[in-house]
Amino acid sequence: MTRKRALVLGDLPGNGLARLRQHCRVTVRSGVTRSEEELAELISGYHGLLTLLTQPVGERVFAAGESLEIVANCAVGLDNVDLAAAAQYGVVITHTPDVLTQDTADLTWGLIVAVLRGIVSADRFLRRGDFHGWEPKLLLGRSLQSVTLGVVGAGRIGQAVLARAQAFGMPTIYTKRSRLSSERELQLATEWCAFPELLGRSDVVTLHVSLDKESQHLFDEATLRQMRPGSYLINTARGPLVDEVALARLLQEGHLAGAGLDVYEHEPQVHPGLVDLDNVVLLPHIGSATLETRERMADCCFDDLTTMLVRGQIPRRVAPATFTYGPRREDDD
Ligand code: DGY
Repeated sequence: MTRKRALVLGDLPGNGLARLRQHCRVTVRSGVTRSEEELAELISGYHGLLTLLTQPVGERVFAAGESLEIVANCAVGLDNVDLAAAAQYGVVITHTPDVLTQDTADLTWGLIVAVLRGIVSADRFLRRGDFHGWEPKLLLGRSLQSVTLGVVGAGRIGQAVLARAQAFGMPTIYTKRSRLSSERELQLATEWCAFPELLGRSDVVTLHVSLDKESQHLFDEATLRQMRPGSYLINTARGPLVDEVALARLLQEGHLAGAGLDVYEHEPQVHPGLVDLDNVVLLPHIGSATLETRERMADCCFDDLTTMLVRGQIPRRVAPATFTYGPRREDDD
């Protein structure tokens, strides 16, 4: 029997590639993000595609990929893939939920603590040689127990963030279209409220919604202004959820006290107004970047390609909207 062909667009950890090579003819092309047109030119003849979140996969790719059966996206977020077009062309899309939930929630807390306690600017202060001894008013941050955390989107990662708040003694509220069960709210010691109310009550707002046309610029200038004066914004979800120009302006004006960002509107570029600010912690999209999780994410993708191309079965991690495209997945990070 002729072996099916897979195109892998990334240098991934683990031995998933070696496993896939036992059953399929695999081509690896890593190191560059291609335009959709460039990928469309490459895709003909491949039955499976493994992509990174930086790679746009749209209608042109599905149209050119006459043999394409599956795209395994090495990310939980699916905003780089046109799911409606995939459904139209009958291509199965899989992603990597669950395996990165805990590490991403940990990094979110890393940013919350870093921003509220000024950890990064304090480190810069010391390295500059400005530390001349303990002083009562030196580099005062905010006490985690005395501020309220507002979680926007309580899917997998949002709930993992809420769970950790209890260890810090930090009160939380959350917003989500479909409310969690009262048992789950009790377990997470949290309270649902509507989005505008959350903005007005939270000292720290953290974003955990998926990116799509509706959620793009969910935090525009008007929304950012509805946040409490002196509050903080944390984003480990997707950059385009926030209007970066407006964010930089509100931070410069002092309406917001600080921000912790792992993702950017035009990645890998960061708005220069943010880079100049000392009260902003900027990370290079490393929410899931641990040895263990990146290997698990790669395994998910290679396993899904094998399930589809070798066993002829639909993988378990198929994107919810692939076959029944309709209302957007909610908080499904
Ligand atoms: C994702 O998976 O969507 C993250 O942004 C990268 O881990």
